[in-house]
Amino acid sequence: MRRALPFACKIAATGSYLPARIVPNRDLEAFLDTSDAWIRERTGIGARHVAADDEVTSDLAAQAARRALERAGIDVGGVDMIIVATVTPDGPMPACAVRVQHKLGATTIPAFDVSAACAGFLFGVTIADQFICSGAMQRVLVVGVELLSRIIDWSDRTTAVLFGDGAGAVVLERAPADSEQRIELCRIHSEGALADALSIPAGGSAEPVTERALHMRRNKVQMVGQEVFRAAVRGIADVGAEVVADAGLTMADIDRFVPHQANVRILSAVAERWGVPLDRFVLVLEETGNTSSASIPIALDRGLRDGRIASGERVLMCALGAGVSYGAVLARV
Ligand code: UT7
Repeated sequence: MRRALPFACKIAATGSYLPARIVPNRDLEAFLDTSDAWIRERTGIGARHVAADDEVTSDLAAQAARRALERAGIDVGGVDMIIVATVTPDGPMPACAVRVQHKLGATTIPAFDVSAACAGFLFGVTIADQFICSGAMQRVLVVGVELLSRIIDWSDRTTAVLFGDGAGAVVLERAPADSEQRIELCRIHSEGALADALSIPAGGSAEPVTERALHMRRNKVQMVGQEVFRAAVRGIADVGAEVVADAGLTMADIDRFVPHQANVRILSAVAERWGVPLDRFVLVLEETGNTSSASIPIALDRGLRDGRIASGERVLMCALGAGVSYGAVLARV
């Protein structure tokens, strides 16, 4: 169980944004040696949203954030900090979060990025939870956002079919220590030994961008799919079980599962390990593809909007991504 803190932290509101353009699997058949049947069967993905040429990551994030703020009934003046989880910032420097801060109309509140790939949103929530439960802050905006269509190699069928663009946001808010509606437990881990299984090799200090790197497309996402698949099943299943056990609960106590959505076969394997039916998972993957750090807040927002998640339910969010980094957050919503 968590140590006693002066306050609890609750999810006050959610919001999400998907770019208007939808690219169904069939459109990829025109330029890749792939098929709608293969993509659906091997991943569960049917389509993905792709940002317009004039949209940048902070635009997607700001849209999702505005929706969350509106539903929380506050303007950005009521927010003490902005955390943006992304691996696709507007540029390498400064943080995407400062662009979001400016677009939302905030002036001096701290705004920074978290880089934990598909687990980034849960890392961001874990950080925010500490600031709120300690009493240091009243409200924190956490956004998971990705514009992955700009960092994938559209000629590589092993990655191009998987990813999509989108953003999800939550307003986290201080609540009384005995509040029912609260984040109950957070747990995060990283295993750098698996760092090369999913990476963008060029563009940093280890391998600056050169003409040769560009030619080899080493500035684009590269993945050893099966290694990541195995790590995802193990990491998500283990960290989810760890959080539930540490909360003194069993999987039967969890109403809804909101996992990171990379591949429905990963989630089926996780559900089997946990002994829970897949229909308790809130899935948006078929429509969105893998949106990395955005997938959990998008699914959470969708689930709360369309009634798949009811107010007061206990929700387990779990993710694993590049790093590998993984984590789980248990919350009563
Ligand atoms: O967000 C967190 C990080 N990402 C993930 O969690 C993704 C984890 N990995 C996966 O989801 C899966 O490994 C993939 C979806 C990436 C690949 O599925 P797989 O079942 O592991 O396929 P595979 O790599 O074993 O490839 C099987 C076959 C190969 O052909 P051969 O060698 O058997 O002739 C591939 O070349 O499928 C081929 N293939 C494709 N065929 C049609 C690979 N990609 C495609 C494609 N369309 N898009």
